[in-house]
Amino acid sequence: MSASQLYAAVVNALPDPILVVVGFDRDDLTGRRYILANAAARELLRITAEEGMLLSAVRDPDVLAAVDKALFDELDAESIYETTGAQSRSLRVRVRSLGIGQDGAHLALVTFHDETEVRRVERTRVDFLANASHELRTPLASLSGFIETLRGHARNDVAARDKFLGIMQTQADRMARLIADLTSLSRIELDEHVPPRGTVDLVLLVGEAVEAAAPLAAQRGVKLECRPFAPGTVHVRGERDQIIQVVQNLLDNAIKYSPDGAGVRIELQSGLSELAAAASPENLPRLSLAAPDPSPETYAALRVIDLGPGIARQNLPRLSERFYRVDGQKSGARSGTGLGLAIVKHIMNRHRGGLVVASAEGEGSTFTVYFPMAGAPEGVVKAS
Ligand SMILES: Nc1ncnc2c1ncn2[C@@H]1O[C@H](COP(=O)(O)OP(=O)(O)OP(=O)(O)O)[C@@H](O)[C@H]1O
Ligand SMILES: [Mg+2]
Repeated sequence: MSASQLYAAVVNALPDPILVVVGFDRDDLTGRRYILANAAARELLRITAEEGMLLSAVRDPDVLAAVDKALFDELDAESIYETTGAQSRSLRVRVRSLGIGQDGAHLALVTFHDETEVRRVERTRVDFLANASHELRTPLASLSGFIETLRGHARNDVAARDKFLGIMQTQADRMARLIADLTSLSRIELDEHVPPRGTVDLVLLVGEAVEAAAPLAAQRGVKLECRPFAPGTVHVRGERDQIIQVVQNLLDNAIKYSPDGAGVRIELQSGLSELAAAASPENLPRLSLAAPDPSPETYAALRVIDLGPGIARQNLPRLSERFYRVDGQKSGARSGTGLGLAIVKHIMNRHRGGLVVASAEGEGSTFTVYFPMAGAPEGVVKAS
């Protein structure tokens, strides 16, 4: 392979799209041509030839203006190129002058760099900060308001003072819980790729969680019914504190969204060879919000079934997004910040487990989590 062949092969193999453009006269728009387009550029711009009229490959006026600036003013220029279609992408276009060739042609190099993912991450970060500050601002504004009132006209009103201090306590608790949830979420995300250590007896743990949820259930008049678990133990691989968080969040939701006096059922099943084997008995639309990579595991399933309002099918995919709450449940007694299921999902991912929701409007909801059972210790390869 000669040096120039190697050079051509390298340019063609570059993952980022590259074009070399020539132009003779600023006023001759159709005279601008690309004289080299590597494979990535041909794919991006959907062109087949390695050279041709520039306008046939690129029609974006901003990109064309950037090309002109490099060709005729010999200045570096940048622009953004958005592709349309099902998977729209956003690329940063950089144009550099390559000077003037022997035949008097102005030359420029156009490179494209895909920034779709960077932008998506940035948008998520901005949304997250906006949501978190909004959630903190609301109770904070209420606290400030009551402080002002207590300093002003309610200064000597004992009854009002007690009432306001009670509300202020609730708001402060809300802020503290939000911060605790956010901290917990970021710690779980940080550890998501570190496999959990230890084993947990799910029968014992669920029993404790149900006991802990009893006062909340009593407040709402909700009956917690544990389907008699098989006597004995169900050992799963995982971290106790995190599994407790999962069970607590699911129970909390089931109780919170149940009508007064309704029952919430908790079922436990072990020895399942795959997630689908424990499909909920009701014929409800179901969606997997977290699923482990396929592996020859045996799972234990914990199912929390409520007779609450249920969730419309179109809202199911968003349930585990941070701060997501179904419209119409954003105020009133069923308060929350929408972090619970995000926490559950990340813990289940870390545990190589699954999270499945089955629900329909007016039909109640069933949330099922699957944990790999502690049988064969990790790292031991079974002989086949
Ligand atoms: N059992 C359920 N029945 C009906 N809707 C539910 C149920 N569980 C969750 N949802 C819906 O999903 C949303 C997200 O739940 P998630 O647990 O993440 O947040 P939250 O309960 O609103 O707040 P948090 O758990 O942070 O206190 C809820 O706001 C609610 O709209
Ligand atoms: Mg919740």
